[in-house]
Amino acid sequence: MSFTIAIDGPAAAGKGTVARRLADHFGFAHLDTGLLYRATGRRTLDGTDAIEAAQALTAEDLKADNLRTPEVAQAASRIAAVPEVRQALIDFQRAFARRAGGAVLDGRDIGTVICPDAEVKLFITASDTVRAQRRHAELTGNGHDVTLEDVLEDLRQRDARDSARATAPLKPADDAVQLDTSLMSIDQAIEAALDTVRKRMG
Ligand code: DC
Repeated sequence: MSFTIAIDGPAAAGKGTVARRLADHFGFAHLDTGLLYRATGRRTLDGTDAIEAAQALTAEDLKADNLRTPEVAQAASRIAAVPEVRQALIDFQRAFARRAGGAVLDGRDIGTVICPDAEVKLFITASDTVRAQRRHAELTGNGHDVTLEDVLEDLRQRDARDSARATAPLKPADDAVQLDTSLMSIDQAIEAALDTVRKRMG
């Protein structure tokens, strides 16, 4: 039996945390689709062509430990606007979504393009200042030397680019349940997401 939970939203809204916790709770597999774009974007920083990098991507590439930097995030957002890059990554994501035993995917276009028939669609947002504070804490906690202003600027630039692109822009699916986590703790956000999924499961 397959059951797909599609989670979309802007950068650092809490999608990843909610997706991991839902996957743990229901025993589903989890795919952070941002990693596909980050791994592709990172290769272009070495001079590799973006389309070739996406076509040659392997599961090993997703395990690289330097994918979380703001530089790689920007590169990911830039190459994510190239239709051929997105095309190269579709089959892998769709196969993952339909695997037996259930799957949670988080990204920007999961409910709209990758899994339009997902059993559950969530669109998770938070104000940009809250998102910047959360991402800043995460990055500095991992030893990155970044200012809050730089993190905010990075998020705003990426959100603008990700929302404005012609192919698979960031936007909620018509049937997505929207969750604004600005004033929620992580546990409250997870509880709200769990509640939505349980209702859909009947
Ligand atoms: O979720 P993230 O911050 O790791 O994603 C990095 C970039 O990858 C993001 O700015 C846009 C792109 N992306 C995308 O276009 N589609 C997805 N499904 C996931 C990420």
